[in-house]
Amino acid sequence: MEHSVDIAHFDRLLQGNDSGAVLLDARSALDSQRWHPDGPGIATFANVPYSEFVEDEDGALARVPQADSIYVLCARGQSSQYVTGVLRERGRNAINVEGGMMAWAAHHRVIHLNDAGDGVAIYQVVRPAKGCLSYMVCSGGEALIVDATRYGGVYREFAERNALRIAAVADTHLHADHLSGGAALSSESGAGYHLADEDAQGSALQRQAMPKHFEIGDAKIRVLTLPVPGHTLGSTALLVNDRYLISGDTLLPEGVGRPDLGNKAREWTEYLYQSLSEVLGKLDPQTAVLPAHAASAAQFDARGACQRELGTLLATAKIADRGAFVDGVEERVSRSSQPAAYAEIRKINLGGPASPERAQELEIGMNQCALSSATA
Ligand SMILES: [Fe+2]
Repeated sequence: MEHSVDIAHFDRLLQGNDSGAVLLDARSALDSQRWHPDGPGIATFANVPYSEFVEDEDGALARVPQADSIYVLCARGQSSQYVTGVLRERGRNAINVEGGMMAWAAHHRVIHLNDAGDGVAIYQVVRPAKGCLSYMVCSGGEALIVDATRYGGVYREFAERNALRIAAVADTHLHADHLSGGAALSSESGAGYHLADEDAQGSALQRQAMPKHFEIGDAKIRVLTLPVPGHTLGSTALLVNDRYLISGDTLLPEGVGRPDLGNKAREWTEYLYQSLSEVLGKLDPQTAVLPAHAASAAQFDARGACQRELGTLLATAKIADRGAFVDGVEERVSRSSQPAAYAEIRKINLGGPASPERAQELEIGMNQCALSSATA
């Protein structure tokens, strides 16, 4: 039995069926409560800080649940290595998670979503630590990258391995919850960066407007861009071959994207309603929705992907009744407030400066883009 696992192995364990494993977080209680990995593969979560193992080893050990395997995690994989050693000396099957939360924050899974035969391959790139979902739409040796995270190497290496040229980079909207990697990926790959004008006010970025459609690879694929204001004024959804809808934060697995980011919730709720009923509501209800975020491990399927059906999401959002929709959104908005870091993240996503340390700090925690999760 290995005494340590890399982060990809740890991610597979999290996604697996309940293995009876314990995840032992050796960070402080505060850090642990703010943000820790989660998934069906972990039966029990426990937080016993490293400092307790140093100060009172017997006391700390007594707080670690019994299990066949105990995965030990910390910020960078060093304190957890020490704790793993202590546990193993006492006969417990402890396994260190290499790189800790630092590695977890940077980890991405790439999942091929669609069946062959569409003339296109759509990949969902999942960053499970933040619940961020991005996309690679590939055809005829070219790729369109949508909502790239700031770990641009993930997309560049994938493109290189699969002999793809990155032809265009787009953000569905100006992200407020996480740092976008779109502009950087654009300059590294030489592809144009697209963000709707309405979301790019005051931008210092090298940017192009959102086109009406993208031409990627050969003529077999059709990528239409649909303006869907509401979550932001420039929110754009991308419809691939009339079957896959990259929805940004307009539609999310647990509901609609919060319309209060511009502090004009009433006005933007109206826009959101129009976008849902007049634009997305006119599409085939069986269209596969590919959102920009998931809010929890439970929203991923057995492949590790997150995908929903348009008709189901629109029914849940109650778009059939305008009054009920608006009242429901307003009520939930009144109970939620946007995290303080969002204003700073938006500035950086418009080309403002950020030190690597500050960037790391700003990205701590799951996204809070959905209205329902923001109020949970
Ligand atoms: Fe968003």
